[in-house]
Amino acid sequence: MTTIAHHADFLCAAVSRLGSESAFAVLARAKAIEATGRRVVHMEIGEPDFDTPDHIKEAGIRAIRDNYSHYTPSAGIPELRETIAAHASSFRGLSEPFTLENVVVGAGAKPIIWNLLSALLDPGDELIYADPAYPAYASAAGYLEAKAVPVHLLESRDWRLDLDELAAKITPKTKAVVINSPHNPTGGVLTRGDLEVIAQLAQRHRFLVITDEIYSRNIYGPNFVSITQIEGMRDRTIIIDGFSKAYAMTGWRLGYCIAPKAIAETVTLFNNNTFSCVATFVQRAGIAALTGDDGPVQKMNAIFRERRDAIVSGLNAIPGVSCTIPEGAFYAFPNVSQITGDDKHLAQWLLDNAGVACLGGSSFGAAGKGYLRFSYAASLDDIGWALAQLRDALPRYHG
Ligand SMILES: Cc1ncc(COP(=O)(O)O)c(C=O)c1O
Repeated sequence: MTTIAHHADFLCAAVSRLGSESAFAVLARAKAIEATGRRVVHMEIGEPDFDTPDHIKEAGIRAIRDNYSHYTPSAGIPELRETIAAHASSFRGLSEPFTLENVVVGAGAKPIIWNLLSALLDPGDELIYADPAYPAYASAAGYLEAKAVPVHLLESRDWRLDLDELAAKITPKTKAVVINSPHNPTGGVLTRGDLEVIAQLAQRHRFLVITDEIYSRNIYGPNFVSITQIEGMRDRTIIIDGFSKAYAMTGWRLGYCIAPKAIAETVTLFNNNTFSCVATFVQRAGIAALTGDDGPVQKMNAIFRERRDAIVSGLNAIPGVSCTIPEGAFYAFPNVSQITGDDKHLAQWLLDNAGVACLGGSSFGAAGKGYLRFSYAASLDDIGWALAQLRDALPRYHG
């Protein structure tokens, strides 16, 4: 029998252009440390620590009992697509509502991002995105041989885009600009003024806006504003959204995009070629999430807000650490550049030496260098313990 020594030689060249979400690797490492009996506070992964609300779970269980266990159309079941179109339009106060034809459902927002960019980007096209950023956009663009063009988010603007840099980076090859507000990893929220400038640029230079609004229900001060509310933008915009963050449904895998019809149909073609369709009973549970009691979402948000206040004030009390107040999502993104030039090393050291799992800011792009990301999806007790550990451990860190 012959054996193959170097299986990696068989891999295609394109895989070298893939990025990855480091949160999953750190989660695995943190779990391994925890399995040895040591306490670890998990602030590495971006998922609510709450259980999925009961009425959503019940709808999923009922759907299994009622035999919603067969294939569905690749864009999703019409009832869910209609519910999403109506809910998304009224949540954003749009005078011209979306219809089912605009909605494509996927196994989480992430595969929809992949399928959307596969539908839009030719080699050489430019995709502008904010740096630091959720890594899925630049990873897909790279794989597709498009050029991912970073524009800085500025700590001095509470992690809002540098609009002058954005204007300067637009070229005839700019196909789309990705915005994400509230933002992962910084918690920054774009203002209506910011969105108006982006909208003017989009209309003048004829590019699309991809607006990742998955944290639109996780917002603590300002009212949520969507770029689709701005005159002329509804038909130039693709919304990415999902159930993971608002409804604590990360493991159910349910997300969607809302796009002009021709784009939605092509995303559907990619769904058809990849996962075929989302689990049918999960889609039924999604209808219950959007049409059922909104109380649990509001309750989770009130708790997130309390935790945010606790972690931000605790971090700011630690010498060498400074943290802006995130207005949305559930991440704190403190500046630790006085302590280290290697944020990923510091994050790993904190896990190994203090039992605090977080991520280095540079996992989210070059502009994240010198920062850490803490997901405050942890109890106040855990946050308090983690802050005490940080206060105790950081003076012992010597890079
Ligand atoms: C900005 C952003 N978009 C999309 C997603 C994907 O969420 P999911 O695939 O769970 O729907 C995430 C998850 O962390 C995110 O932070």
